[in-house]
Amino acid sequence: MSVLPYAEKKAQKELADEIRELVKKKNAVILAHNYQVPEVQDVADHVGDSLGLAIEATKTSAEIIVFCGVHFMAETAKILNPTKKVLLPNLAAGCSLADSITPESLYEWKQRYPEHVVVTYINSSADVKAMSDICCTSANAVSVVRSIASQKILFTPDRNLGRWVAQQVPEKEIVIYDGCCPVHDVLRGPTVKKVRDLAPDAVLIAHPECREDIVAMADVVCSTSGMIAAVARFPEAKRFIIATENGILHQLRKRYPDKEFILADGCIGCRLNCPYMKTITLEEVVRSLREEVFEVDVAPEIAERARIAIQRMLAVPRDA
Ligand code: 13P
Ligand code: SF4
Repeated sequence: MSVLPYAEKKAQKELADEIRELVKKKNAVILAHNYQVPEVQDVADHVGDSLGLAIEATKTSAEIIVFCGVHFMAETAKILNPTKKVLLPNLAAGCSLADSITPESLYEWKQRYPEHVVVTYINSSADVKAMSDICCTSANAVSVVRSIASQKILFTPDRNLGRWVAQQVPEKEIVIYDGCCPVHDVLRGPTVKKVRDLAPDAVLIAHPECREDIVAMADVVCSTSGMIAAVARFPEAKRFIIATENGILHQLRKRYPDKEFILADGCIGCRLNCPYMKTITLEEVVRSLREEVFEVDVAPEIAERARIAIQRMLAVPRDA
């Protein structure tokens, strides 16, 4: 947990108070991803991974959803709640992985593999989801692929998650698209190995968007909220090396104040930092609620088809 100067803490408290007042007055709900800055996580109604937040979006009775995450997450909330107002506090909150696949490139791949069932990671645009058979997140990708009757799968767009799934479900023939998350893909095995050599007793938990050698070294491979649950499975362990974006450390340290969490890049997130997630600040959240900006919309015919792929995914349980 960060130690802030008094004046900064006071300013944050004032902003947080205003946010909570606006939330009440406007019948809003704040959903925040595990990668958000700590003060945004602390002001949210729900903090979670992509899957958990998509599920929360289906349950809320609020009229306004303020999505503190990235654009595809807000879009998913809108698709699941077409009559609600969904706000993204900063339109710069995109995702390079989602941008790595376009409807045109998916069309091309589908032409090449016409018999394959298209499984698309939730880190994708609504247009791409609308062309897909079923979505998945990092929390249910293995179960989603296992749930499909066909042997032939086209997995898009993350090559690292796709490879991890293919290893878990070797009975399927999985063709994998060539996208990746630059935040995770830039982390290299030798760096993680060095961090591990300095803390040989630590449990290594990695996100499946990491490269193959890192995932192979890991004791646990799971989504961000999966990481929070996984720590409880190692009551004897004192230290954990975390191979994902630095925002997750806030929830881990809050839930397990007696454990030590070390970021796998060995430098407190100088590399494991998603610039898109970090565009959202308390100031942006206040403005979002005050001015009801920036509204995220999805064309009804796209939303209708994307919703089918998302709802098929929601019928599948999380990976064990
Ligand atoms: P989660 O599935 O854990 O929410 O991860 C999403 C993501 O964007 C990882 O980079
Ligand atoms: Fe996208 Fe990577 Fe950022 Fe996740 S960490 S939102 S996949 S760019």
